[in-house]
Order: sequence, then structure tokens, then C-alpha cells
Amino acid sequence: MTAAPQLAADGRLRHLLTLDGLPSALIENLLDDAARLREQWHTQRALPQHLAGRTVVNLFFEASTRTRTSFDLAARRLGALVVNFDIASSSTSKGETTEDTLATLEAMDADAFVVRHKENGTPAQLAAHARQAAILNAGDGNRAHPTQGLLDLLTIRDRKGRVDGLNVVICGDIRHSRVARSDVHGLHALGAGSVALCGPASMLPAREEFPGCRISDDFDAALTDADVVIMLRIQRERISDLPDLDVDSYHARYGLSMQRLARARRDALVMHPGPINRGVEIASAVADGAQSAILDQVANGVFVRMAALTRLLAR
Ligand code: NCD
Repeated sequence: MTAAPQLAADGRLRHLLTLDGLPSALIENLLDDAARLREQWHTQRALPQHLAGRTVVNLFFEASTRTRTSFDLAARRLGALVVNFDIASSSTSKGETTEDTLATLEAMDADAFVVRHKENGTPAQLAAHARQAAILNAGDGNRAHPTQGLLDLLTIRDRKGRVDGLNVVICGDIRHSRVARSDVHGLHALGAGSVALCGPASMLPAREEFPGCRISDDFDAALTDADVVIMLRIQRERISDLPDLDVDSYHARYGLSMQRLARARRDALVMHPGPINRGVEIASAVADGAQSAILDQVANGVFVRMAALTRLLAR
């Protein structure tokens, strides 16, 4: 990550663009802050208004429900004003560059921009242009989705007591997944014992891109001794040449069924960033079962986003 440094010279977080290279102490601090905010919310239903007087703009150039809503609630519950910028009816569709959109909104004293874009690197590019504002990457292309990585780490830490030493399997369309990339960066930073990436050959990434991970098309074998199994959606919108996918045969080899889950450790945790495709990458019985942490992930998302916004914006 070079285009725009996310850490200021004094080591402070200036933008949140990727977990790649983020110091593990900073990651742990963000998780601790999120857990503290969660505790306050659950006991008091009220939170410190760390973001009072601040303005957060959601700039989503790609469809999103959960991530946008999660950032929106996180910012509002801490007292910020939130603007949901409607790209379809914006000047971007009149030919304005994204940098000019940023400058325009910064001139109205926007303090932070939450950016999702289909192109790799757009949030980093905007960070390079920002005068004062902080940029939070809410997912760029297949490159990074740092708050998803953080909420996954928090969920694992809660349910397993640690990340250190755990065996994690990530299965599905790894090649097109920004979630897989941010998860791997975060898992390595916090000392996961092993990370295995699984999927059909056409959905596996280049080995050089994932140093330190096992890469295989044999999901059954990879599941042995797994403590955590993260399932991913097939990112159809990012695959230009997707051959007609035979859902049944995909599910037969790469879908997480109850029977297949039995190959993992008995207390293995099942995760998925959503949106889930029932009967494709995950069976309903697993998604809704006792080992599933899918809704915990969603709940934790709001608190890690609060932690990130607070660190970037609190005065
Ligand atoms: C993911 C994304 O958009 O990258 N979703 C999310 O943020 N929860 C994964 C996906 O779309 O499959």
C-alpha cells in the first residue's frame, strides 16, 4: 500500500484503506475500542457522542446494503451528521471526476468519506487528494475491505478467545474477494496458526499474492482441524467470463453442508460476510445453525466502524 499512506508520520491513523501493513497493536486497539463501545451500548443503549459536530459522507459507487447501513448507524449513534451521497443522481453522472466530488464536499466541511468502488485503489487515490478529511475504504474492487476484516477478527476473538494459533479456512471465490484479502492480512497480523484458501481452480488466486497461505481446490481435505471456516459468495458481478455455473455441482464440492462441517473441529466457527446464497456456498442448516456467527459478524460491524470513525475523527 503506497499511493496514500494511511498512517501519519507520528503513527496515528490518518485514513483506513487496508489492513495490509497495519501494525498489529493498532488492530488490537481498534478491536478493544469496538468491544468497549459494544459493552456501553448493551448496558446503557447510549454512547459517548465522540462525533458530535462531525460530518460523514457515504460515497458508495457500488450497490451495498449492509456495509452502508452499518457505517451509517455507527456514525449516527456517535452523534455525527451523515450524508448518503446518491451517486446515480450526482454530478459524477454529469462527468465530474471523483476527486472534484471530494473537493466539493470537503469545501462543505465534510470530515470523513466512506468509499466503496468497483475499481481497486479508488479510496487510496481519494486519500491522496484529501485536504483534511479522512477516507475509510468500504471495499475497493477485489483489493481490500478493512472494516470487514476487523469485524471478522473481533467475531473470532469473541467466540474463540483469541486469533493466535487458530486454523482458518476461507472457501469460495477467493480470486475476486476483497474480504478474503483483508481477512488474510488481519489473520496474519494477529498470528493465526494457518490460513488455507479453497475453491475451484478458476476462483483461486495467484500464489504470489498470498504468501504464507495454503491454497487448494480440495475443500474436504482443508477442513481437517479447522477452527474457523469463512465462506464466500461467488462474486458474479466481478467475473466477466463466468461460465454457466452449475449450482448443484458447486454445492456438492464447495458448499458447506452439515455433513461437510463435521470434518472440521467440533467447535469450529462458521462465518460469512454476506450476502449469503443459501444452497450455493452454504446450506441453510449451517447458516442458521449453532456454529454460525454470521449475525454476530453483522452486529460487530457497527462497533468496529464506530471504533474506526472515532479514531479518525474524535477531537
Ligand atoms: C462483501 C463485499 O461487498 O465485498 N459484502 C460485504 O461487504 N458484507 C462480500 C460480498 O459482496 O460477497
